[in-house]
Amino acid sequence: MKLKRSTASLLYLAATVSLLAQVGLAVKQEDFKTSEQVAFYRRHRAFADGVAKESQLLGKSVSASQTASPYSVLQDSVYLDGHTLVASVQHGTDKVPLKLKVSFLDKGIVRIRGQEADPLKPRFDDTQKLVLRDGGANLKYASAGSLQLTSEAVNGETVHIVSFRDANNTASLRMTERPWTVEYVLNNKPSILLNSKGLFHFEHLREKPGADGEVDGADGAWEETFRSWTDTKPRGPESFGLDISFSGYEHVYGIPEHASSLSLKSTRGGGKDAYSQPYRLYNLDVFEHDLDSPMALYGSIPFMVAHNAESTVGVFWLNAAETWIDVTREKSSTLGNLFRLGTASKEPTVSTHWISESGVMDIFLLPGPSAADLYRQYAELVEQTPLPREFALGYHQCRWNYLDQVDVLAVNDKLQEHAIPYDVIWLDIEHTDGKRYFTWDSGKFPDPVAMQKKLAYNGHQLVTVVDPHIKRDTEYRIWKEANDNGYFVKNKEGTDNFQGWCWPGDSNWVDYLNPDAASWISSQFHLDKYNGSTPNLFVWNDMNEPSVFNGPEISMDKDIKHYGGWEHRDLHNIFGMLYHKATADGLRTRESPDKRPFVLSRAYFAGSQRYGAVWTGDNAANWEHLRASIPMVLSNNVAGMHFVGADVGGFFGNPTPELMTRWYQLGIWYPFFRAHAHIDTKRREPWVFGEPYLSHIRNAIRERYRLLPYWYTLFREASLTGMPLVRPMWMEFPKETSMFSEDSSFMVGSAILVVPATDADANQPIDVRLPTQENWYDIHSHATYIAPLKRQFASDLATTLVFARGGSIIPTRERQRGSSELMRRDPITLYVYVSRTGTATGSLYLDDGETYSYQNGAFIERELSFENATLTSRPSPRTKLSPEQLEFLKAMSKVRVERVVIVGMRNPLTKAVVVENGQTRDIELAYAGSKLDSECTIRDPAVLVGNDWEITLS
Ligand code: NOJ
Repeated sequence: MKLKRSTASLLYLAATVSLLAQVGLAVKQEDFKTSEQVAFYRRHRAFADGVAKESQLLGKSVSASQTASPYSVLQDSVYLDGHTLVASVQHGTDKVPLKLKVSFLDKGIVRIRGQEADPLKPRFDDTQKLVLRDGGANLKYASAGSLQLTSEAVNGETVHIVSFRDANNTASLRMTERPWTVEYVLNNKPSILLNSKGLFHFEHLREKPGADGEVDGADGAWEETFRSWTDTKPRGPESFGLDISFSGYEHVYGIPEHASSLSLKSTRGGGKDAYSQPYRLYNLDVFEHDLDSPMALYGSIPFMVAHNAESTVGVFWLNAAETWIDVTREKSSTLGNLFRLGTASKEPTVSTHWISESGVMDIFLLPGPSAADLYRQYAELVEQTPLPREFALGYHQCRWNYLDQVDVLAVNDKLQEHAIPYDVIWLDIEHTDGKRYFTWDSGKFPDPVAMQKKLAYNGHQLVTVVDPHIKRDTEYRIWKEANDNGYFVKNKEGTDNFQGWCWPGDSNWVDYLNPDAASWISSQFHLDKYNGSTPNLFVWNDMNEPSVFNGPEISMDKDIKHYGGWEHRDLHNIFGMLYHKATADGLRTRESPDKRPFVLSRAYFAGSQRYGAVWTGDNAANWEHLRASIPMVLSNNVAGMHFVGADVGGFFGNPTPELMTRWYQLGIWYPFFRAHAHIDTKRREPWVFGEPYLSHIRNAIRERYRLLPYWYTLFREASLTGMPLVRPMWMEFPKETSMFSEDSSFMVGSAILVVPATDADANQPIDVRLPTQENWYDIHSHATYIAPLKRQFASDLATTLVFARGGSIIPTRERQRGSSELMRRDPITLYVYVSRTGTATGSLYLDDGETYSYQNGAFIERELSFENATLTSRPSPRTKLSPEQLEFLKAMSKVRVERVVIVGMRNPLTKAVVVENGQTRDIELAYAGSKLDSECTIRDPAVLVGNDWEITLS
C-alpha cells in the first residue's frame, strides 16, 4: 500500500494532537506485542512451566538443586582446549547435539557460546564482529597454563571443575553433566548460576515440515501473525533461552532501555511492585510511552549488573535479536546445583530468564568484584566511551522546529542577550526540502553556511537531523545513488527494495550491514557531499530503531532481507547502532586530520557509546516524566551507555514555569543536556517564562558551565576505565544496603551528590541521605554536614540540593561566557573539600577538545592531592613528553589556577606558601566574609595548570 507524500506525517501528527488532547496520555498498547503475543516467548514459557511442574512432581521446588532440565552433557565429550572448555550437550529426546564452548578470558571473564554442533545452516553471528572491541579478534584470554581442569563424581554424577584466576582471587567454574548446569564460583560461593532452574532450552534449526502432512508441533514456529502482519519465518524456530541466577544478590540493574526503576522489578511470581510482563529488549518507537513499565523502548543493552554489599558482578548477553527477560526473586535458595544437598542456605537469589529469538548463544560472565573491576571488564569487551567533542558537554537548545534561519539567529541572539551560555542549536526535520535529508528548505534556509558562520563566531555549533529513511524520489540524489548501487534493505523475497512510510511518505532504508552501503552513507556527511554543511555542523540520527509507521510494532517486518540474506530479526537491535556508527565515521573523516564527531542517536545497543550520545526519546512535560528520567539515565550508565540525557522540559505538552525550572535544575546533571519540544508545543526558550524563572534557569545552566572541567575530567576517566559518569548511590557506597534501590538521588562522578527537586510544590521539604562516615558540603553555601545523616531540606525554586563529598577536589571555571569554546583558555578554580582526616584528592584533564592529538600526548592531566595542609599538583602517569604535548603546553601556557577554595579545615589558616618551578612565594589568605570560618580562599596563587606545584597552608 502506498501513501501520498505527506500522508504519513499527517497521520502521525494527528495522532499526536488527539493524544495530547486527552488527559493522562497513554501508549497505544495494541500497537505493541505483549509477551503472550510472541510465539517464541510462549514456547519458552510453556517449556519453563513444564520444567517447574515436573520439578514439583519430583518433589523439588523450582529452586531445588535438582531440576527437571532435559539437557545433559554427553559422556566423554568434555575437554580443555587451550583456554576453552568444550562440551557437547543434548536434549534427552530430540538428540540434536549442541556444542558449548566456555572460554576463559583475562580478568576472570568467562564466555559461553553455544549452537548446534552441526548446524543445518549458519546462524547469524556478526553481532560479535559489530559489537566487540576489534570485532572480538583481539580478546585477551587467560593463559592456558593458568587453567586446571579436574573432573570428579559428586553423588554419583560427574562434575567438571576449571580453576582459574579472576581479578583478585582464584575462581572456579563448575559444570555438572546431568543435567547440564554451570556455576561461576567466586570467593568460594557459587555466585552466577546457569540452568540451575532447568530453563535452558535451545530450538535447533530444522527442515520445514513437508507437504506430506508432517506437522511440527511448535506453536507459531513457521508463521506468526500480529494484527495485519504475517511473519513468514522461513527459517523456522531458532530461539534459545536460559536461566541465569545471581545467588546472594537481591538487586539487579541495567538492561536499558525501560521507563522503570533503577533496581529491576520481579516480572513473575508476584510480590510488591512486580510487573506482569517480562522486560523486553526490542528497539521500538513507542509513541507516548508508559512509565513504570518493562515495555521495550528505543534502545537495548543486554547487560545486567547484580550488586550486594560484598561484590558487583555482571552478565552480558550478546545477541541482537528480540530478547525477553523475566526476573524472579527468592528470599533464600539452595546453593546451586553442584552439591545437590537440597538444604536451603540463607542466600537470597535473583533469577533471570533470558530468551532470544535467533542468533548464536553468546554470554559473558563478569566477576567484578568491585564496580570499578566490573566496568574495566565490560570495557574490555565493548570498549569505553571515547572522549567527546568538548562542546557536546555544554547546553543544547533544540525544538521541533526552529522555523528558519532568522529564527535560529534570533534564538542565538536572545540567549546571548540573556547571558545564557549555550553550545549548540538544533534543527529538526522541517529544515529539509520535503524530508529529503542532506538538503535544506531553501525558502527557510537560503544560506545555511552564512548562518553557521554567524553561530560559529561565538563558538556555537549547529546540529541537523538526518534520519535513516530515504524518500523514494527518483529525482533525489541520495535515493538514486543508493538505489542504483543496490544499497537498500530488501523485501521478504529479496527481490525489491523494502518499502515503508515514515516522515517523507514512501521510503527505503539503507542497509548498513552491507559495508559498502555503510561507507557510502558515511561519505554523504563529508563537506563536499553534504551541501550547506560546515565543520560546525553535527548530526542527529532519529527514528533509527528503525521507525516504520506502517510496519509491525511501528518497525520493520522481521522477515525482510539484509545483506548476506540475513533476516531483519537477526540484527534488529543493532540496526540503529550501525547507522550511528556510519554517521560518526562520516563526520570524523570529513576533515584532515580526523576530528572527533558528535552524533546523537535515538536507537542504541551495547557498543553505541563508541559513536556518540543518546537520549531517552519522547517524554512528556509532567512531573512523573521528570522523576522517571533519573532511573532511566542511571540505568543507561549502569549498562555502559554513559553519554545520555532526557529531553529537558518534556517533549510532549507544555511545562509549567516551575516544572521547566526544576527540569533545568536536574538536566544540568544529565551527561547529555538538551532542551527539546514537540512541534505543537508553545515556545519555551528560557526567557519565555520571565522572572524569577529566567534567573533560576540561567543559574542552573551557568552551574553546568562552571563545572565543565569536572565533567570533561569525568569523561576522561570513563574513556580510560569504563566507569559511569552518573552513578547510582550503591556504586559509590557499595555497603550502604539501604540505598541499593535509591533512584531519586545520585552521584555525578565520585565527588558530587545531587538530590533533585521533583515535586510540583516547591515548599515540600526533600528527604536527603548523606551516606558514610564522611563530611559533606553544600556545594553553594559550603555549609558542612556530618554523615551519616538523614534529614529534610527545604528547597524553594531558587535552591538546589547538591553536595560535595568530603575528600574531593573539584575543578571549575568561574568566568561566565557564551559557550564552552570561549572558556577554553580560562583560568581554573579548585575547590578542595577536606575529609574528616584532613585530606582530599581529585584530578583535572584538559585537551584541545576536538582533535585526536590527545592520543599523542597533547593533554594536561594533573593529579591533585591535599594532605598535611599542602595542595599538590602532579602529572598523571599517562603524561608523556612528546612534540604534541609540548605544543599543547605552549597553547595553555597562560592558563593558570586563579583561585583555590579550601572548605572544611578545622584550624584557621592565615598564610600560603607556593612552590612552583623551584620558586617560592607567600600569599595572604582571604576568609569568606560571612561564611564559615572553615572556608578560606587563596586568591590568585598564579600557578599554571600545566606545571608541577605545591601550596602549603599554615
Ligand atoms: C521523534 C523524536 O523522538 C523527536 O525528538 C523529534 O522531534 C521528532 N521525531 C521529529 O523529528
